[in-house]
Amino acid sequence: MQCLVLLIALFILLIHASASSCTSRLGIGLESAAIFDVLTYGAVGDGKADDTQAFLKAWADACKASEAQGIPTLKMPSGKTFFLKPADFRGPCKSKGITVQLEGTIIAPQNSGDWTRKDRWIVFSGIDGLILTGGGQIDGQGSVWWKACSVKALYFDKCNGLQLSKLRHLNSPRNHIGLNDCDGVQISDLQILAPADSPNTDGIDIASSCNIEIMDSVMQTGDDCIAINNGTSHINITGVACGPGHGISVGSLGKNGAYDTVEEVHVRNCTFTGTQNGARIKTWKGGSGYARKISFEQIVLIGPQNPIIIDQNYDPHGVINAGSLQNAVEVSDVTFRDVRGTSATELAIAINCSGGTGCTNVVLEQVDIKSAVPGKMTYASCNNAHGEAKACNPVVPCVAH
Ligand SMILES: *[C@@H]1O[C@H](CO)[C@@H](O)[C@H](O)[C@H]1NC(C)=O
Ligand SMILES: *[C@@H]1O[C@H](CO)[C@@H](O)[C@H](O)[C@H]1NC(C)=O
Ligand SMILES: *[C@@H]1O[C@H](CO)[C@@H](O)[C@H](O)[C@H]1NC(C)=O
Ligand SMILES: *[C@@H]1O[C@H](CO)[C@@H](O)[C@H](O)[C@H]1NC(C)=O
Repeated sequence: MQCLVLLIALFILLIHASASSCTSRLGIGLESAAIFDVLTYGAVGDGKADDTQAFLKAWADACKASEAQGIPTLKMPSGKTFFLKPADFRGPCKSKGITVQLEGTIIAPQNSGDWTRKDRWIVFSGIDGLILTGGGQIDGQGSVWWKACSVKALYFDKCNGLQLSKLRHLNSPRNHIGLNDCDGVQISDLQILAPADSPNTDGIDIASSCNIEIMDSVMQTGDDCIAINNGTSHINITGVACGPGHGISVGSLGKNGAYDTVEEVHVRNCTFTGTQNGARIKTWKGGSGYARKISFEQIVLIGPQNPIIIDQNYDPHGVINAGSLQNAVEVSDVTFRDVRGTSATELAIAINCSGGTGCTNVVLEQVDIKSAVPGKMTYASCNNAHGEAKACNPVVPCVAH
C-alpha cells in the first residue's frame, strides 16, 4: 500500500517535471524578451563614442536573466561600429547559457590613454555555456600597437562549454584569441586576419584547457596560427587553412625548467600555405613534463619553410648551457600521416631531439614533401628520435624504415 502511494507520487512528480521542461522549451521561442541590445543601453555605434559602459550594463542584465524567456542574448546589431575600451564580461550568469550575438563591428582604442590596461582587451571569464557568434567583426586595429604593446584581444578564462563561430577577427594588438582553463570548447568558421609581418599575433592560444574542437577556419597571422601550451589535452583541429603565419605549434613547453604537459592533440585536414612552419612541436632545453599522443594527418603543404619540426632542444637565444642541463620535456607517440606538398626550403623535416631524453615512437607515414623549387631535392635531419617511417619522402635518417 505504502509502495503504491509512493509510485503515484512519483508518477505525479514525473508528469509535473515533463510539463515544466516543456513550457521552458516553449519559452525559447519568445526570443525578444531575452534580447539585450546594446543600443537600448545607450551604445552609439558610430565608431567614435565610447560604448564600453553600455556593453557592460547590457551584459550585467543579460547575465542576471533566467532562461525563462529563452537563452539571454547580448546583441550588437549589424551596421554599427562599436568602440570598446578594455572590458571584462564576468560570470557566473544565472541561466545555463548565454549568447553574445555580434553582428556589427567592435573596434579597439588607438590612443594609449584609452588602454586602461595593457594586457587584455575583451575578457570573458567564469561563464558556462557562452556562445559568441553572429557574423560580425572584431577589429583590434593593431597596427599602431604591434611595436609597443602586448595586448591579447579576446581572452576566455574559465569558460566551460564555450562556442565561438562565424566571426572575423582583424589585426589584434597581440594574440587574437586566448583560451585559459576552459573545458569543452567548439570553435568554427572563424577568420583571423593580420599581416604576415605583425609580431606575436598568434591566432588561437590555448593553455590549461581540455576537450576543444577547432574547425573550418582561416588564419592568416604574423605568428602561430594555433599555439597549444601547458596543461592542454584532447584538442581536435580540422579544416584550418593557415598561412601566412608560423603554423600549428605544440609549445613551446618547459621554459626555465618548467614541468609542462600536453597530450592528445590531433590536427587533421589542415593546409599550410607559405607559412614559416607547418606542423611543429617545440620544447625548451632543460624543461620537464611531456608532449605526447600528437598527430598531424591529411596535411597539405603549399611552400612552408619548415614543414615538419620537432625541436626538443629549443633555445632560440642560445642561453642555456647544454652540458649542465640534460633534462627535456618527453616527446612521444607523435604521428605525421598523409602529409603532402611542397617545402620552400630543402630541409623539409627537422627532428631534433635531446641526447639525454630523446623522442620516442615518432611515426612518419605517407609523407611526401617535394621542393617548391623545381629541380631541387628535399632532405630530412634527425637526431635522437626513435620510431619508424613508411613511405616517407625525404628519407628520415634516424628512425627505422
Ligand atoms: C576528437 O576526435 C576523436 C576522433 O574523431 C573523437 O573521438 C573525440 O571525441 C574528439 N574530441 C573532441 C574534443 O572533439
Ligand atoms: C602546467 O599546467 C599544469 C596543469 O594545468 C599545472 O599544474 C602546472 O603548474 C603548469 N606549469 C606551469 C609551469 O605553470
Ligand atoms: C577539409 O577542410 C576543408 C576546409 O579547409 C573542408 O572544406 C573540407 O570539407 C574538409 N575535408 C574533409 C575530408 O574533412
Ligand atoms: C639540434 O640541437 C642541437 C643541440 O641543441 C643544436 O646544436 C643543433 O644546431 C640543432 N640542430 C638543428 C638542425 O636545429
